[in-house]
Amino acid sequence: MRLSIAAKLNFFLLFIFSMVLVFSACYQAVRERDLILSLIKEQSQEQTEAYFDSLNMLMLTGQMAARDTLREKFKRHSHVKDARIVRSTALTRQYGPGRAEEAVQDDFDRLALEGKGSLEVIQEGASSRLIATLPLRASKAYRGTDCTSCHQVEEGTVLGAVRFEYDLDALFAQVERSILGSTLALTALFGAGLLLTLWVLRTWVVNPLGQLTRAMEEATDAPLPGRRLEIEEEDEIGRVAAAYNQMLDSMERRLAPRPSEPGAQSRTMSAAADPKRG
Ligand code: HEC
Repeated sequence: MRLSIAAKLNFFLLFIFSMVLVFSACYQAVRERDLILSLIKEQSQEQTEAYFDSLNMLMLTGQMAARDTLREKFKRHSHVKDARIVRSTALTRQYGPGRAEEAVQDDFDRLALEGKGSLEVIQEGASSRLIATLPLRASKAYRGTDCTSCHQVEEGTVLGAVRFEYDLDALFAQVERSILGSTLALTALFGAGLLLTLWVLRTWVVNPLGQLTRAMEEATDAPLPGRRLEIEEEDEIGRVAAAYNQMLDSMERRLAPRPSEPGAQSRTMSAAADPKRG
């Protein structure tokens, strides 16, 4: 395949660029997802604690009947899909089963009532959510409150858990949009770079080389002395032109008929063949 140097270079640049683009998009996707996840995990930690603190205030002030309002308020926080309390058997034994949604519904609830909190991303098809649970143990001094003064259980018993679920789809879509944006910007930047490279190649390499080639082609057909090249730049191509000019000079000198020395050329050749002469 016959390709010009400019085409080869552009293919090479295109290849490098595609690699850079793919790598940067993947890297950015991983980084931004991790960043968003760590932020939302932090948010979940704060919100589960805040939810229990508010609920505890209702317990202390005897307003537990208003706890549905509290739940509705927390469910309206951004990215919160669901917020609820899971009640333990120790609690239902004393106060009854509570609201329907406060019963154990899955393994995360069960784990939480065993005292093991979770902070896990669940992927179901194209949608993902974060599940955060915070077990609530009876303590004699939980931030200044003695749980056992009302709940008749031993210290350390899990009374229930706070469970939050976060919708991650909107957040991940945001990441995708940001990656698409930066990929488009990179592509535009590279397009401009490619055009600039083409222009630079044309003015510094392709055109001077074309001139050199044309001059050499002309010189092949023309009688001696051949046309000397103008040297515009002192770069590699300029040096080729200078060498070409020197070559013409030397050829001219050797081939010019010298009346004083008719056998000049054959003499030179025999001189080169005999090392002792010189
Ligand atoms: C002033 C008494 C009192 C104190 C102190 C108290 N609670 Fe409660 N707690 C209640 C009452 C009353 C309820 C409501 C029970 C019901 O009607 O279902 C309740 C309910 C709960 C629930 C279930 C909430 C729900 O929405 O179903 C949990 C979990 C709980 N308490 C944990 C704790 C923990 C942990 C502490 C210690 C930090 C604590 N409580 C301190 C009185 C108290």
